[in-house]
Amino acid sequence: MQNNYPDFVSLKGKNTSLTIALNRQAPQVIYWGKKLSDKTTEQMLTTLRIRQEVPASPMREAKRSLTTTTGEGFSGNPGLKLFGDQAQWAVVPKVTSIEMIGENKLVINNSDDYRKITVIHTVVIDPESDVLRFDSKVVNDGTEDIQLEWCTAATLPVPAHTDQILGFEGHWAGEFHEQRTQQFFGTYLRENRRGRTSHDCFPGIIMHTKTCDQQQGEAYGFHLGWSGNHRLLSEKMSDGRSFVQLGELLLPGEYTLKSGDSYQSPKLYATYSGSGLSGMSRQFHRYVRSNLMKYNAAEKVRPVHYNTWEGIYFDHDVETINGLADRAAELGVERFVLDDGWFIGRNDDTAGLGDWYVDEEAFPDGLGPVVDHVNSLGMEFGLWFEPEMINPNSNLYRAHPDWILSTAPNEDVGFRNQLVLDLTRPEVVEYLFERLDSLLKEYNIKYIKWDMNRDINQPGDQYGRPAIHRQTNALYALLDKVKQAHPTVEIESCSSGGARADYGVLERTDRVWTSDSNDALDRLKIQKGFSYFFPAELMGTHVGPRDCHITHRSLTMSMRASVVLFGHMGMEMDLRELTDDEKVELKAMVNLYKEHRHFIHSGDLYRLSLPDYAQGLGVVAKDKSEALFSYSLLRGHTAGLPDQFRFEGLDPEAIYKLHVVWPIRSGDFWPKSSIFNFETNLPKMDGQRFTGEALMLLGKQIPRLAPQSSLIYHLTRED
Ligand code: GLA
Repeated sequence: MQNNYPDFVSLKGKNTSLTIALNRQAPQVIYWGKKLSDKTTEQMLTTLRIRQEVPASPMREAKRSLTTTTGEGFSGNPGLKLFGDQAQWAVVPKVTSIEMIGENKLVINNSDDYRKITVIHTVVIDPESDVLRFDSKVVNDGTEDIQLEWCTAATLPVPAHTDQILGFEGHWAGEFHEQRTQQFFGTYLRENRRGRTSHDCFPGIIMHTKTCDQQQGEAYGFHLGWSGNHRLLSEKMSDGRSFVQLGELLLPGEYTLKSGDSYQSPKLYATYSGSGLSGMSRQFHRYVRSNLMKYNAAEKVRPVHYNTWEGIYFDHDVETINGLADRAAELGVERFVLDDGWFIGRNDDTAGLGDWYVDEEAFPDGLGPVVDHVNSLGMEFGLWFEPEMINPNSNLYRAHPDWILSTAPNEDVGFRNQLVLDLTRPEVVEYLFERLDSLLKEYNIKYIKWDMNRDINQPGDQYGRPAIHRQTNALYALLDKVKQAHPTVEIESCSSGGARADYGVLERTDRVWTSDSNDALDRLKIQKGFSYFFPAELMGTHVGPRDCHITHRSLTMSMRASVVLFGHMGMEMDLRELTDDEKVELKAMVNLYKEHRHFIHSGDLYRLSLPDYAQGLGVVAKDKSEALFSYSLLRGHTAGLPDQFRFEGLDPEAIYKLHVVWPIRSGDFWPKSSIFNFETNLPKMDGQRFTGEALMLLGKQIPRLAPQSSLIYHLTRED
């Protein structure tokens, strides 16, 4: 074994340090948290970590190495589980060499010479955002096959005082809901076998202290950039030590390493924040903006969308669509997205998927007349696809019934009348690329809504082998190929709403459809959950119909429009149903969005800690020259007076001019009836000047609002 590397290596960001001990059996994180000064030596950290020997326990504590193993005597969940026909199961990869690439990237090579297995860990710090990226690679250097069961991207220790778990749960039309649990002895385990990122098991977890809230306290955030199956766990061992692992969930027998083969784990993104949960999100947002997003916001603002789905569903014809385009353009829409229903046989969701040819009944002259009309109104044209899927009632299926994933001869459980194409077959990917490519060449399409509406829950390939790992990589390759051939076409990641939102797909897409629920009250929760890991500009937000099609809740235009400002704005409804008043309000929101999107899409997010009947957030421009804050009253409450609203993130010494920019009518203030004739405090405050510190430390009282309404403040710094 070589030993020409240092005993320790530290990576430092702006506010965080990570120290890894190398000269041991396997590399382990010995410190990760608030940035340490140079006075603290690695030797000090090692000494301070010495623990007493516990009776009836191993004399030497087994390490929490980056891929913990049973072979090294670790009794918690192994980070690496594999087996061959002999001793491979007890693998202990020891450091053989390291490579420092620049100041921020560390590659640690490890090997178990006895068992002929190599493990390579890569750790990269982004010093600007303090986000760390980890991944692991396993190589079979032996001659016999090895079965890989689990290889975490990394095992990361968390201190005992960050014992609160914030995870996420959800369902279709109700994604990204917060799930709060106190850490317990044992394992908090989330496993996703849906073959897509999923609605219910978002691959992210936050560990934080009891006193941590949105503004203060310590938090460790973790996210796996992967759109297939995953496992995440937070384990508290009986000796009190805790750790977190995230990685790909492999199905039984899914990954065999033949001699010379390797396995590459997905990437784990992790960050430490000493400034609360909003601080943690700002770090992730900064990272995504400068490392993952390809979208050049400086060159192109995010256009206002109109999407046809909740407007006309499958009822496509040229006249209706062109009529909607006229109305959309009048409202200030900049991109018109034709959703599901445009291809042959697609009159409902029982037929057509796979047949990516324009339906001649609905569009006798192809899509040209629609695209041209949309373009002539000054709008871009976008088109919906669901490439990975096939309806049994389609020409493609009739020609290639074997092109699907299945667990035949087991019965298919059924899922929106569709099956999943087997992307591990090159001919399937070739067909899909040809279809997408030729439509993108034929029409002036600037945007693809790439949908995926079924779990891959019976994922056997043509030989019956489990295929999620290969399917996910094949999807990534197809997306990359489409992007390469059409670099200016933007792609939205949609999966029955927000079931494919992760940093893996974000490396090759430009927007996420957050949820199929356009109910503004639901949206507040969903968007809050989404905002923990994703910045505003990636979050598709649409003003929905008056009576929400999913919850049947009826909400005012003022409320519905207020929740779209802090994302990538759009609208999705039958525009023919809008009243004149609604049009005025909707247009006002379009203008507000256009006026402020430059800093909403680059600024800092502050989620506010408010009572549970309300929700609030703010976005402050990077240079703190302006800000927008919103307060939404979800329901009535018992206090006689409304809340005091304290702003966040402003320059304390600067003078800000305060404006109420939403609602645009006084009807949202309470009480509505003219017999009371109460004066709200709105006119008295509007246009007045205050210091940032007064707005943050004292704040201002919210005017009386009707339940289910929102208020938005705009602040401008007086220079
Ligand atoms: C999914 C999407 C929707 C819409 C429909 C079309 O549910 O999330 O936005 O595109 O498919 O079938």
